[in-house]
Amino acid sequence: MLIAATADIHSPTYFDLFLKAVEELNVKPDVFLLAGDIVENGRVEEWERVYNVLFGKITCPIVATFGNNEFGKETQERIRSMFPDIHFLQDEKLVLNINNMRVGIVGTIGSIEKPTYWQLKNFPDVRKEFEERIKKIETLLKTLTVDFKILLMHYAPTFKILEGEEPFRWPGMGHRGYERVLVETKPDLVICAHAHNGKKKTFLDSVPVFNVALPLHKRIVIIDTKRDLKAGLEKFF
Ligand SMILES: [Fe+2]
Ligand SMILES: [Fe+2]
Repeated sequence: MLIAATADIHSPTYFDLFLKAVEELNVKPDVFLLAGDIVENGRVEEWERVYNVLFGKITCPIVATFGNNEFGKETQERIRSMFPDIHFLQDEKLVLNINNMRVGIVGTIGSIEKPTYWQLKNFPDVRKEFEERIKKIETLLKTLTVDFKILLMHYAPTFKILEGEEPFRWPGMGHRGYERVLVETKPDLVICAHAHNGKKKTFLDSVPVFNVALPLHKRIVIIDTKRDLKAGLEKFF
């Protein structure tokens, strides 16, 4: 299975880079994953431009979650209603049939250990929401019986993938509560983003974690599940 993944387009900020990256795509992926921060600072209308780049070119299922730049139920519902053909997952799961394989995807924005000032001011329960989400995601992963299990999230599930970012920023970029969840539920692949300067790939136990942020890779990340998921096989990164 070929998985295409990207995130942190922050349209309009990296829109041109995204356009170029999609134009340069020379494979036909089986599924296209978007890990949040598609638009900058709640600019919902920018999603339209991103969608138009994919339209016609990407014919496989598109599965997306939201980033901190698409924060809050209201913004997320607006985006969902604009694109009924995209599978948006926010603390939800989805099963796709790809090449006769049942592929399960759990999608979420994820959590951070230290909410931003803006989040605390506008969403007073945000700290609780971030903590409770870890349990929710654990349950979703545990109850998904499929051939291949993907966790698609925006924030980092481990600080290991944040190396390259300033350590004082790490608590605002991810939550280590997911580390135990990943080791215990063993998804076949974890996709995250948000860290524009983090590492591209790490392993938690045997679980591969890919950071697909567009500003980090400057291309769409392609993962060949037969080739790229074993520890030590880092040739493409
Ligand atoms: Fe971002
Ligand atoms: Fe982000």
